[in-house]
Amino acid sequence: MKLLVIVAILTASNVCTAQDFAVNVDTSDGSFYVVVQGKTWLESGPYFFRADGDIFSFADGSLLLVKHSQSSGVDLIGQWNSNSFVYQAGSTQIEASIVQYKPDPSIFTYNDPALPFVLFKQKFITGSNNTAAASVSETISGFPSIALEEVDVPMGYLYFAGNQFGSQNMEANQWGDTTFDILYGHGSGPLALFDRSKTANTLIITPASEFMASSMYHQNNHKGKNNVFWGVMGGVNTVPKDFETSYIMFCGNQGINKAFVSWGQILQTWYGHKEGFVKSDMTINYLGYWTDNGAYYYHESEKGKNYQDTVLDVVSYIQQIGLPVRYFQYDDWWYYVDPHNAIMQWKPRPDVFPSGLEWLYNKTSLPVLAHSKFWSSNNTYAKKNGGAYNFIIDGDKALPTDERFWQDLMSSARQWGLVVFEEDFLDSQFDALTPLHTDVNLGRQWLLEMGNAAAKNGLRIQYCMTYPRHALQSLEIPVVTQARASRDYHPGSDHWKIGLTSLLAWAIGLAPYKDNFWTTSVQSGNPYNGSEPNTALNAVVATLSTGPVGISDMVGGSNKSLIMRSVNADGLILKPSRPATAIDNRIRRIAFGDFEGPDGEVWSTYSDFGGQNKYGIILAAELNGDYSITPDIAGYQGFPSSMIFPYNNASKIQPLTDADPLTMSGCTTVDFCLYYVSPVLKVQGKQVLIQGELSKWVPMSPQRVTDINIGDDIIISLNGAAAESVVFWFNVNGVSSPVVCNLGPVGSATLSFNQQTCR
Ligand SMILES: *[C@@H]1O[C@H](CO)[C@@H](O)[C@H](O)[C@H]1NC(C)=O
Ligand SMILES: *[C@@H]1O[C@H](CO)[C@@H](O)[C@H](O)[C@H]1NC(C)=O
Ligand SMILES: *[C@@H]1O[C@H](CO)[C@@H](O)[C@H](O)[C@H]1NC(C)=O
Ligand SMILES: *[C@@H]1O[C@H](CO)[C@@H](O)[C@H](O)[C@H]1NC(C)=O
Ligand SMILES: *[C@@H]1O[C@H](CO)[C@@H](O)[C@H](O)[C@H]1NC(C)=O
Ligand SMILES: *[C@@H]1O[C@H](CO)[C@@H](O)[C@H](O)[C@H]1NC(C)=O
Repeated sequence: MKLLVIVAILTASNVCTAQDFAVNVDTSDGSFYVVVQGKTWLESGPYFFRADGDIFSFADGSLLLVKHSQSSGVDLIGQWNSNSFVYQAGSTQIEASIVQYKPDPSIFTYNDPALPFVLFKQKFITGSNNTAAASVSETISGFPSIALEEVDVPMGYLYFAGNQFGSQNMEANQWGDTTFDILYGHGSGPLALFDRSKTANTLIITPASEFMASSMYHQNNHKGKNNVFWGVMGGVNTVPKDFETSYIMFCGNQGINKAFVSWGQILQTWYGHKEGFVKSDMTINYLGYWTDNGAYYYHESEKGKNYQDTVLDVVSYIQQIGLPVRYFQYDDWWYYVDPHNAIMQWKPRPDVFPSGLEWLYNKTSLPVLAHSKFWSSNNTYAKKNGGAYNFIIDGDKALPTDERFWQDLMSSARQWGLVVFEEDFLDSQFDALTPLHTDVNLGRQWLLEMGNAAAKNGLRIQYCMTYPRHALQSLEIPVVTQARASRDYHPGSDHWKIGLTSLLAWAIGLAPYKDNFWTTSVQSGNPYNGSEPNTALNAVVATLSTGPVGISDMVGGSNKSLIMRSVNADGLILKPSRPATAIDNRIRRIAFGDFEGPDGEVWSTYSDFGGQNKYGIILAAELNGDYSITPDIAGYQGFPSSMIFPYNNASKIQPLTDADPLTMSGCTTVDFCLYYVSPVLKVQGKQVLIQGELSKWVPMSPQRVTDINIGDDIIISLNGAAAESVVFWFNVNGVSSPVVCNLGPVGSATLSFNQQTCR
């Protein structure tokens, strides 16, 4: 007879409550099952721990329960109750705890208060020796573990894995023995499970600490039950005494998007919100010029000229046509590398920049975002090679283990305008350097040291080619403000599809970067022999991402009118309040195949000016057939009664309610569908929609509109460049017309709807 204790007694108002979500723990051995909305979703699998060269598991009775205890307390997040089990695995003792949290409503500023969740903790009380698994892709511990079988409800999953923020090996499918086919180990990442119900009940399971040392492992034993495990990565052979990892299981019942956001809020509460660092990153706010893969000038300067002259030509072209580019990105072509492309010396080569970077900075006055990556074993900074800093050398690669190294490197780079340090190839650095798989602390320490140095120098960091572990680790590094959300751009490629990775990025506080793009289709003599048919789609996606907007055209190849749809006259990106992300039903359509979601990309976002002032944006592209969307499906629960209109015809307004959906059709990549949603206002007996600055992709951006005051009149505060002209639209009883505002010498104005003027 098993004694069951319900540890998750949850009392939140409109998220998973006690009836919605419970983790029922068997105190006789520590096994559990998860109940969502009265139905069993998951059952635990056999926990295991490796030690002394052996494996100790529930499966064969070799893992012994020594002790069970209960405790409770309060921490940063709120109240918790814990069931702890001490297990004996050979000479090792591990405390495995299932901790139920009831968060303090006052700490959640973003979404719904008091989100319930459960933490699974593994604490290596004695430390553990001889733990390494047969493969680095496995784990040395498995707690929690989940039996991979369908229990009461058909569920789908979304799983982020592999490089570029888990986009490369992302999977969505049905949960089950044969359909759960995923990349585990080093590239493993967040797992979300959801059902087919109207609101999409969602469970999210991810590491909650020690992100660089934690992995997920899918044991596919082909005979008995298959299981999924979370634990310390498989290459670790020694675990220090008292080392602890934890894994969060979060439940949401308002859809997949909202569950991710709330899950991320918990992690951000733990590790510190980085919003201030993101907001003050100038490369996230302003238009930039890029030279990375996909760019016209990637590893290719102008014919017969060096890069220095090419940069100067780009800058004078930009100035000549009046593009408000505010920074310049230098990719991996300017520093010294070894024959394997690893960095020897992070300083400009004379064949690239003969007069040096400081000289160039003085000439262009443009701040710099500069690329960096893995270090050669022969790099000139390492003590082994006569340099001044500690590095771990492994094969032909090296890893800095010296905060002073980063400090000196970054502070000297400030002389030549560095504002953002781009750390690339995080995935291959992780794979190439064995100590990063064997040492539980090294990965975290390396990234923290890099981050500390950047913080001391007032810099920000962009991560590129991240595995999910790097992305999650950035939670602890506030200056990591942005990360690439898809594979490298190539003209004509489909790497604009960042609707899912943007959700993960937004949840953990990072600005997703879609990568550079061309703004005209044909740019002769380019290194790719390519063309870009989807210039406008790329520009929209970049703008709606809330991350950097980086153009990469040849001299003479920029489309100014297209570029200016993304920014104000100062180059400030006019973006929405959160990144556009794939709607829940898109995710469920991918997972279930037969689900009534869109057969193509449908994303939504909005600008939130507080209270009822919420302005939606819906993007659809590469959409097969029709798709009808309601406010609910778009994720606009709690928005005021609104109307919707296409970006290219402000008069074509129609209601958008759950009873009056909008049917989108013919949404391709060239002729994408882009719709704006505005609250219906009643002013002096008239039906008024604020439509905003329709010449921009985001006509109602908090970067432009700083206040909206609705009473007998509508008073709108606008900000921008000095003397900038803003053409601002209203729809009155179905007819759209503009008010033209000149922002004057201070770059601001107050618009009165009744007077149809600006002051
Ligand atoms: C692990 O090895 C170290 C060094 O030999 C030893 O001091 C320690 O007791 C061992 N720990 C366990 C749990 O066996
Ligand atoms: C760059 O400008 C600064 C400030 O005017 C000056 O001190 C420095 O010598 C210049 N550097 C180069 C390499 O021209
Ligand atoms: C480092 O230098 C040594 C000696 O020149 C050379 O043999 C080796 O190939 C170099 N390693 C790398 C990674 O370039
Ligand atoms: C460039 O692309 C065109 C059209 O796809 C093709 O015909 C041509 O052979 C390509 N040229 C090179 C150098 O790859
Ligand atoms: C430039 O972009 C505008 C849209 O803003 C478009 O109408 C025009 O055709 C584009 N021109 C070129 C040369 O691509
Ligand atoms: C814009 O929409 C209105 C109202 O539906 C319609 O009458 C008009 O023809 C449309 N204009 C264009 C250019 O499509």
